[in-house]
Amino acid sequence: MKRVLAVVLLGFGITAGAVMASVDDEIRARIQPVGEVCLQGEECGEAAAATETASSGPRSGSEVYDAVCMACHTTGAAGAPVIGNASDWAPRIDQGMETLINHALNGFNAMPAKGGCASCPDEEIQAAVEHIVAESK
Ligand code: HEC
Repeated sequence: MKRVLAVVLLGFGITAGAVMASVDDEIRARIQPVGEVCLQGEECGEAAAATETASSGPRSGSEVYDAVCMACHTTGAAGAPVIGNASDWAPRIDQGMETLINHALNGFNAMPAKGGCASCPDEEIQAAVEHIVAESK
């Protein structure tokens, strides 16, 4: 008899706990603000969530190239070696990947550090260098 009572009490305890938890959730959902104040120029709500998804993970070398490096390395602006031009790139590639990446990250003469994209992570710049080299051999 005692054992039965214990089981019944235990069962009640679990049920009560679960009910309490679901009531908590309901209350939390009910007291949530109806809308969100979103100031102009601020990213919030769905737009902010979308941006986060879009910028998750590093971009590919060609994406970074198109966004940052193309301005100079497609046109040869400022004397930049042109992508796809093997004679522009052969002597540079001979310096070794480490030097090229180092120059891309830290700048080299008229080549600005990170191509001017200070917020680009190092791995994106490295991927862009690898993209340029692969296209220019
Ligand atoms: C404002 C123009 C400009 C932008 C933007 C730019 N570069 Fe350059 N880059 C140059 C110039 C100019 C040189 C040649 C510098 C020299 O040899 O004196 C150069 C050289 C390089 C070199 C060769 C360095 C060496 O040691 O020979 C690499 C690699 C390079 N850029 C990578 C990049 C990458 C990657 C990006 C984009 C993230 C980028 N650049 C964006 C102008 C630019």
